[in-house]
Amino acid sequence: MPRAIYPGSFDPLTNGHLSLVQRGLEMFDGLVVAVAQNQTKTALFTVEERKQFIGEACPDPRVEVDGFEGLLVDYARRKGVSVILRGLRAISDFEYEFQMANMNRKLAPKIETVFMMTGEDYFYVSSKLVREVASLGGSVKGLVPPNVLRKLQSKFGKSAGG
Ligand code: PNS
Repeated sequence: MPRAIYPGSFDPLTNGHLSLVQRGLEMFDGLVVAVAQNQTKTALFTVEERKQFIGEACPDPRVEVDGFEGLLVDYARRKGVSVILRGLRAISDFEYEFQMANMNRKLAPKIETVFMMTGEDYFYVSSKLVREVASLGGSVKGLVPPNVLRKLQSKFGKSAGG
């Protein structure tokens, strides 16, 4: 299997994302984990910080960490990669993912989106909930890798670490 692009906001990286990277590496020769510079979302971490979290948590040489602006399919074409990997947690993800996959197919028919189910331990974990819980003083220990936990603790105080 050739390389695939695993795109997302990764604000911040969670153990659910990591589970997908690990399983993606069983299926593809390599992964480009691509952090979207999404102007419409207010981010907690900068793209550079998010890329650093991913690089530290995924030291595998088959993982390339990158950032991109603009359309994902244009980025994929520039990288010469024709598979997009996305995780599906629950039915609630489906509609959004279905719309994106179909829009991307309309824009670039040769680029295929492949879905993998998120690891069962992380079905309820999202970056949005991690940000919310940590900012309100709840523990996100076990839901994010240690480097992200440390950064959340330094932003929001020790309670984010449980
Ligand atoms: O982690 P997210 O926020 O669910 O990831 C969404 C992402 C970044 C994959 C999506 O918003 C995206 O591809 N953005 C790039 C702009 C683009 O191509 N938009 C059209 C997609 S249909």
